[in-house]
Amino acid sequence: MKEDSSKTKEELIGELAEMRRQFAEQQAVDERRKQMDDAMQRAFDDLEIITIERTKKLQKANVKLVREIKERKRMEKALRQSETRLRRLSSQLFNAQEEERHRLSKELHDQLGHDLVLLKSRLNSIKRKLSAHQAEPHEALSETQEYVDQIIEDVRRIATELSPSILEDLGLFASLQWLAENFAQQHSLNVTLDMEDIDHFFSDNTRINLYRVFQETLTNISKHAQAKSVSIVVKKEKNYVIFRVKDDGKGFDLKRLARKDVVKSGMGLTAMKERANLSGGDFDVESSPGKGTTICFKFPIREKGGA
Ligand SMILES: Nc1ncnc2c1ncn2[C@@H]1O[C@H](COP(=O)(O)OP(=O)(O)OP(=O)(O)O)[C@@H](O)[C@H]1O
Ligand SMILES: [Mg+2]
Repeated sequence: MKEDSSKTKEELIGELAEMRRQFAEQQAVDERRKQMDDAMQRAFDDLEIITIERTKKLQKANVKLVREIKERKRMEKALRQSETRLRRLSSQLFNAQEEERHRLSKELHDQLGHDLVLLKSRLNSIKRKLSAHQAEPHEALSETQEYVDQIIEDVRRIATELSPSILEDLGLFASLQWLAENFAQQHSLNVTLDMEDIDHFFSDNTRINLYRVFQETLTNISKHAQAKSVSIVVKKEKNYVIFRVKDDGKGFDLKRLARKDVVKSGMGLTAMKERANLSGGDFDVESSPGKGTTICFKFPIREKGGA
């Protein structure tokens, strides 16, 4: 007080002005802090709104996703069921086809084969009735008999090819050998066969599937390949028997075949794959135009005492 009273009027005015300035400064700082607090609060509010909206959107998306997952699972299950049904259907189809082929084969062998043998013996009895000077009809009858012999041979071959009963009579090894030799002879092809003894490795069904896949492989070569040589290698590897049939024919474009209309493309390759899969095996084709074709299929060896 003493000091104050000793201050001059100017000094007091100066101090007052300084206090005012400090007060104004403090007010400005308070104002800025308030503005910042307000801005922060608004930002928090906005953030909360955004978070609520995002959460709502996420919840919606989540519900949609759960629905889609359920739908996909349902579709996968339906697909698996229809695959199982298709597999069962193709297995039944193959069985029906085998029965029908067996019936046809029997009819060819028993009926037509029998009729032809009868025809041959009739020709023989006509021949015997000819007198010695009837050389021309005698010769014609002999030629016809030879022709009938050829037809009998063809009917036997077709009947055997139709029915895999040859498998029971000869076993798998000899049957495949018969198919390959017959194929080589009929189409004048150079066929090499390198096969281990594979009898007793497979169940009856697998043997039939294998025989048919092998047969269709050779049929395709004769129909499409224009090959000169065919090499067949059959060997046991671990729990499988692997077949590799390689021709030096014209080959084909696999991608082009895949693009082809299902109705227009053949059924052979599809049926071969299906038969291999039905037996728990695998089937594969390697081919390109001008470079020949290799068909590779493997069939699992049955467990001892298994089906
Ligand atoms: N060894 C081969 N050499 C060349 N082309 C082949 C050979 N095997 C198959 N192909 C080609 O693949 C196609 C499909 O064969 P696939 O056996 O499925 O049908 P296909 O023989 O035409 O008819 P299908 O077998 O139903 O009587 C054939 O049309 C042919 O163009
Ligand atoms: Mg075919």
